[in-house]
Amino acid sequence: MWTAKKLVKAYLDFFREKGHAIIPSASLIPEHDPTVLFTAAGMHPLVPYLLGQPHPEGKRLANNQKCIRTGDIDEVGDASHLTFFFMLGNWSLGDYFKKEAIEWSYEFLTSKKWLGLDKNKISVTCFKGDKDVSKDEESAKIWESIGIPKELIYFLPKKDNWWGPAGKTGPCGPDTEMFYDTGKKKCGRDCKPGCNCGKYFEIWNDVFMQYNKTVAGKFEKLTQRNVDTGMGVERTVAMLQGKGNVYETEMFTLIMKKINEVAKEPNEKSTRIVADHLRAVVFVLADEKGIVPSNVEQGYILRRLIRRAVRHGRLLGIEGSFCKKIAKKVVEIYGDEWPELKKNSVHLLKEIEAEEEKFAKVLGLGVKMFEKIFKKQGKISANDAFLLYQSYGFPLEMTVEIAKEKGFEVDKSAFEKEFEKHQSLSRKATAGKFKSGLADNSEITVRMHTATHLLHAALRKVLGKHVQQKGSNITPERLRFDFVNPEKVSKEQLEEVEKIVNAAIKAKIPVEQKEESLEEAKKEGALAFFDAKYAPEKVYVYTIGNISKEVCAGPHVKNTSELGKFKIKKEESVSAGVRRIKAVLE
Ligand code: SER
Repeated sequence: MWTAKKLVKAYLDFFREKGHAIIPSASLIPEHDPTVLFTAAGMHPLVPYLLGQPHPEGKRLANNQKCIRTGDIDEVGDASHLTFFFMLGNWSLGDYFKKEAIEWSYEFLTSKKWLGLDKNKISVTCFKGDKDVSKDEESAKIWESIGIPKELIYFLPKKDNWWGPAGKTGPCGPDTEMFYDTGKKKCGRDCKPGCNCGKYFEIWNDVFMQYNKTVAGKFEKLTQRNVDTGMGVERTVAMLQGKGNVYETEMFTLIMKKINEVAKEPNEKSTRIVADHLRAVVFVLADEKGIVPSNVEQGYILRRLIRRAVRHGRLLGIEGSFCKKIAKKVVEIYGDEWPELKKNSVHLLKEIEAEEEKFAKVLGLGVKMFEKIFKKQGKISANDAFLLYQSYGFPLEMTVEIAKEKGFEVDKSAFEKEFEKHQSLSRKATAGKFKSGLADNSEITVRMHTATHLLHAALRKVLGKHVQQKGSNITPERLRFDFVNPEKVSKEQLEEVEKIVNAAIKAKIPVEQKEESLEEAKKEGALAFFDAKYAPEKVYVYTIGNISKEVCAGPHVKNTSELGKFKIKKEESVSAGVRRIKAVLE
């Protein structure tokens, strides 16, 4: 049987045979990328290399990447949408292009040595062309030459057959997608690959990244032609096993079973949502970056996922706390392959339990308040629903649900208007981040990135060698650096750190880049915080005089004199033993 484990192994073996280096999955939390909260595709961590920087492991890469996409959170519970999933991918960084990519995709899908899918059930889509970029006849011809009948090659517009930044700058290009016919009846005359009715199962996407979308919205040719492909593990396994949905595969069945053991009023959709959300939560909490539930950025998504799981637990009739039990199962199932789950299991189970307890109280208070208003007014207005939400964190869906039991309706659109009125400002600030997007390698973020290395080194000098990077996030406005330190950093210490960084800037020190094995880098004293299992074979080491030496993907400025004046704006606590500094370059 094609289990996930077997599929991942086959895929990586296949591309190893085709000369690809197998690289480790990057963290779920992107570093130095201001445009996304989570790694949403295998290509995200590779943006600098797609833009032309040489990759230390070569021009052909492949991996199995942990991904999170929250854009479709409302679809979770259907046959295939997930917030967290694994994505297999292979990349050519200015090496092979359409011919090899397509031929290899076809070989892997149909050869008896590999997946051995029925050739007659495969159809493909190619880019139709528009005012920016012409029709992708080349890909279609390659498909035809290897045996896909002309009538099974469809041409679709940018919204279907183009991959890259939504309204943002960065590498992008036309793609060709592969579909498997499940044998279901067509849902209508227009039913074709790309239709969501379930007849055509999307298996794989080969993107030909040949363009860079500029700020002005123009598509400029990149210096190199890249290939970026993506195959979702869960959905492909479901297809290979002939299952109608991802939850019936071994990636979910034991989690689903555990939930059903505690559910008093079983309901498939809520069980799926709990399973998906808690699996995502376990992987985010296990990530080395130390994200915990909070009201901002990744921490907010984490909080939302846990709370949504708890709420759906209630819909399943589960009274007490249950998330920890389910999370334990996730650790048990995935822990061997993803050692960070076992390593951080105590921490992650504690965080899940604490957040569940916090929310259970909110839910309890909210229900009491609901009853009080209902007794007085005999109904709950949109405004009351909003107050319940704002003051008690009581979700609208819960209000609607209880109202329904009592025989009345809450005006959702009036609630949403109220909500938007209050939220529009804070929403505006973060909206861009929820979309899938690409790294903004603009000059200022590169400068901030180099400043981060200087800050890291200065903190180690002033506070001690226990200081270790826990997370980094850069926007054009500021850099944010999380690090291990047991206590608050004093004003004097911060001034000292600023002084060291500014002296390094004044000294006009060249930033040098070198490629070597991780072992050599460590021997030379370069800072590198990798989990041994995931350490890549070859890495870049960036050295700034005798001040800083760090293993890092880059990019960086050429000389510290490019940075300007460094200023610390804020120092605060993130979680026990982890501090955060926000700083700017003036
Ligand atoms: N980046 C493309 C995707 O996510 C191919 O990997 O589908």
